Order: sequence, then C-alpha cells, then structure tokens
Amino acid sequence: MTQTTVEDELVEESGPILIGQLEKFGVSAADIKKLQEAGLHTVESVAYTPKKGLLAIKGISETKADKLLTEASKMVNMGFTTAMDIHQRRQELISITTGSSDLDKVLGGGIETGSITEIFGEFRTGKSQICHTLAVTCQLPVDMGGGEGKCLYIDTEGTFRPSRVLSVAQRYGLNGEETLDNIAYARAYNTDHQIALLVQASAMMAESRFSLLIVDSAMALYRTDFSGRGELAARQMHLGKFMRNLQKLADEFGIAVVITNQVVAQVDGAASMFNPDPKKPAGGNIIAHASCTRLYLRKARGENRICKVYDSPALAENEGTFAILEDGIGNAVD
Ligand SMILES: Nc1ncnc2c1ncn2[C@@H]1O[C@H](COP(=O)(O)OP(=O)(O)OP(=O)(O)O)[C@@H](O)[C@H]1O
Ligand SMILES: [Mg+2]
Repeated sequence: MTQTTVEDELVEESGPILIGQLEKFGVSAADIKKLQEAGLHTVESVAYTPKKGLLAIKGISETKADKLLTEASKMVNMGFTTAMDIHQRRQELISITTGSSDLDKVLGGGIETGSITEIFGEFRTGKSQICHTLAVTCQLPVDMGGGEGKCLYIDTEGTFRPSRVLSVAQRYGLNGEETLDNIAYARAYNTDHQIALLVQASAMMAESRFSLLIVDSAMALYRTDFSGRGELAARQMHLGKFMRNLQKLADEFGIAVVITNQVVAQVDGAASMFNPDPKKPAGGNIIAHASCTRLYLRKARGENRICKVYDSPALAENEGTFAILEDGIGNAVD
C-alpha cells in the first residue's frame, strides 16, 4: 500500500482535526461519542454546526453546546483573514487532472479541491467516464496531477465498472488492485439512503485521507422519488440538505466533490425562441447555487466531446474538447 502510507503522513500536517482532540479541553468521551454518532467526526464539523444543530443531538445541553462551540472555534479559524492569505491558500489548492491536458487547461488546472463541481449533459456525453478517470487520478501524487487520496464513489444508477478503473490505472502505471482498494464504493437506492451515505462518508474521511467524492448521478433518485409539482417543494428541501452536506465535506476535508446531472428541456423564457433544442441542468436553483463550477458536456465527432464552463466564480466561459478513450479521458482525437 505505498499509495496510502505517504498520504497518512500528509494528514497529520494539514488535515482536519479529529474530534477526539476535544477531550484534551474538557469534553467528555461520552459526549464525543454522541457527536460521532450524529455524524460529526472532526473539530471543524463541530465549529461549522450552528448551535441549534448541536442542541438537536440527544444528550447535548445548552451549556455543553456553548462549551463545544467555544473550544472548537478556538482550534479552527472562523474569523476574518486578509485577502492575501486567501490568495496564498488558493494557490496551494490542489487540482485533480481529468486525464485530458486540454480540458485541464480550460478548468484552470483540473477539478478543484475544496468545492463542488457539477458535470451535466445528455446521455453518453461522458459524465460517468470522467468520474471513472478521476477515481484513479485523484490517487496520483500531486506532481502528477493527483490529490494523493482515496476516492469515495456513490453510484445511483449502477453504472460503475471496475474494469474501466483498471484500464485507467494501467495507463498511469498504478497497481490495479491497490487502485480499486482505494475506491470506497456504495450504491444508493433512494434519496434518504443517498444522504445517509454521506454520514458514513465523513466517518471514513476522518479515518484516512480521501481527495475526491463522486456522486453519479446526484439528481437521478430525486427524479424518481419525488414526482410532479405537488412534491417539488419537498424535493428541493431534501436536495438542499444533500447539497449542504456535500459542501460541508468539501470544507471539512478539503476534498473535491464531483456530481453529475442530467439535462431537462427548457420550456420557459426566451431561450426557446432562439434555440431549437434548449436544455438546462435538472435540479433548479438548489443545484445551481450549491455547485461552484458547472460543466456542460455535449457530443462532438466520434469519441470527442465538448466541455463548456457554464458557470464559475473565476473561470471564463471557455470551452474545450476531450475524448473518451479505452484508457480513460484524454485529449481530442481527429
Ligand atoms: N471502454 C471504452 N472505451 C472507449 N469508450 C468507451 C468505453 N466505455 C464506454 N465508452 C464510451 O463512453 C460513452 C458513454 O459515456 P458515459 O457512460 O460516461 O455517458 P454518461 O454521460 O454518463 O451518460 P448517462 O447520462 O447515460 O449516464 C459512450 O460513447 C461509449 O462509447
Ligand atoms: Mg452515466
């Protein structure tokens, strides 16, 4: 397991602070256990939880909640910092390679860690294939475009194929079995299950170093579990909670979160007047607001695909071409 031993050392320096550390500051082991059972495994997660959220945990009183927040916020920087500090930290942010150097350029280096990237597009545009490639490249050393961590893969459509992972691993000269061992896979069967898996995910991330969480697809189960206008409000609320939990994991563990999404016909507004086949990502405002970078895939000739930066806080509305190849995502072929 050469791939993981190096990583475990890295965590000690810059990773999240495990919740057990609070014991040194007078929090009882029993209370720590209660927090863990509620899905809080790091001091960061405690510090980021509103008081109301802590009080909702059985056995956590007002006094205990205050004490927890005081101690946690002493250990986690929650106040103002300078823009220079943010600038420096952003330069240190790791990006994970997509496998295509052309696509990486469009993305300003690759898939950014610490935030949510949404990949949407029609069927067969390569969303799942990009996920398979990233599940491998996230394990590579940083100087090879990796994140030096494991991958957590939540599959809602049953389209994950270990054989695709093996082909990509071979391309990068990685041991196939080790690479597969470094991917924690779960099939999600309904939207409640999809959220519950994130609680388990945070426990696993507190134990060893992960660099990527994939949800392929984030929306599919929402579209089957909730139907019609009547359930729209309930669906958006549930979805909002799911997206907030994803963001929390990205903040707490500095991992990259990649979600895939389908497109739906755009019937409203002026778009349909000028575009004969207007499409937009599913999930409405909730997904739009939670996703930091949104990428729109469409088909091109043969195995080539076009990726357009749809919405990003810092990237231009660029587009780039890539190809879906036997050994994963690569540069476009003619
Ligand atoms: N082993 C392989 N070698 C080359 N190309 C492959 C291989 N496996 C699948 N593909 C290509 O990948 C494409 C499918 O991409 P992918 O499954 O990522 O689509 P998707 O966007 O996830 O679609 P959906 O919305 O149906 O989930 C197909 O065009 C297929 O030809
Ligand atoms: Mg797919």
